[in-house]
Amino acid sequence: MGWNSWNKFACNVDEKLIRETADAMASSGMKEAGYEYIVIDDCWQVSRDENGNIVPDPERFPSGMKALADYIHSKGLKFGLYSCAGSKTCEGRPGGRGHEYQDARAYAAWGIDYLKYDFCNTDAQKAEGSYKVMRDALFAAKRPIVFSICEWGSTEPWTWAKNVGHLWRTTSDIMNCWDCKVNWGGMGWTLVMDKNEPLGKYAGPGSWNDPDMLQVGNGVLTDVESRSHFTMWAMMSAPLITGNDIRLMTPAIKEILTNKEIIALDQDPLGKQGYRWWTLDGNIELWLKPLANDEVALCFFNRSSEVKNIDIDWKKYFGKLDGKSYGVTDKTIIRDLWLKKNIGTTGKNLKATIQAHDVLTIKLSK
Ligand code: GLA
Repeated sequence: MGWNSWNKFACNVDEKLIRETADAMASSGMKEAGYEYIVIDDCWQVSRDENGNIVPDPERFPSGMKALADYIHSKGLKFGLYSCAGSKTCEGRPGGRGHEYQDARAYAAWGIDYLKYDFCNTDAQKAEGSYKVMRDALFAAKRPIVFSICEWGSTEPWTWAKNVGHLWRTTSDIMNCWDCKVNWGGMGWTLVMDKNEPLGKYAGPGSWNDPDMLQVGNGVLTDVESRSHFTMWAMMSAPLITGNDIRLMTPAIKEILTNKEIIALDQDPLGKQGYRWWTLDGNIELWLKPLANDEVALCFFNRSSEVKNIDIDWKKYFGKLDGKSYGVTDKTIIRDLWLKKNIGTTGKNLKATIQAHDVLTIKLSK
């Protein structure tokens, strides 16, 4: 869990923004809710010096990365940077190719805790080999660093990256919209979700599918759509990397991002990615996420642009949900994770009205 500069700020990053973001993280309740990593994405770097050392932009980061890391650490937070496996980053800044060990040593010396490693300008490089070189370089630098693989799912990293990185992007970039598409491959969050959904079997503690950073709070999605986006990322055990300006959150957005019950769903120790169990009425999807302690979460997601009603007869599911035993009986307790209260038991039908693009997210427990 953390924050990354890209979705909101793109190349417009400097140390003032990063310090203020760390301050906001520590004071707004975000840190308390579990957010930890502050990650600067592309454009912090400008060149290499005569010895090949990577040089942070001296105008935007005049105090240097070590001072920034110290500041972030002093707030009880962790610090991440971005680089790229190719000769240049996606924004044309110096990439890591041929400098992997040197860069890893610099990151370790500065106190970096997280590296997002992209895949632009890679010519004939193979992704798996390129990421293994950087993994080994980080290991040799002897500092624990979360390694975030970002080759957009193009070589199916879920099949090879388990022992290479801790998380891997599964799709092209998330756009700030519900379901838009751009010609180079970027897409709205519901489409990202569809691509990430079938990959659950590859994920688990220590190795996660990454459907990209959140667009919650970036001003295009409604509050309802934002909470659905946040919920579905939690249902998929996705990394919760916020991508908004956390210095200026509306109360509604802050409440979404700090909902401890949804965060607990995401962070559930069983680490099972939830999946679409069935689609009802053409447009209501029912998602299921097995949880630790024999609990299970269900999320009814109304993808349509109309209000929908549901009426669930639990008797059909006593004993089994999707063919698996979750021990549901007529005494199973239903908790609404957005209302943050118990709303009854499975002894009675669950009747609810779900607004367009909204979710009903419940946990079933004994
Ligand atoms: C790629 C990545 C994005 C972001 C940009 C930065 O598009 O997928 O997440 O890091 O590069 O240039």
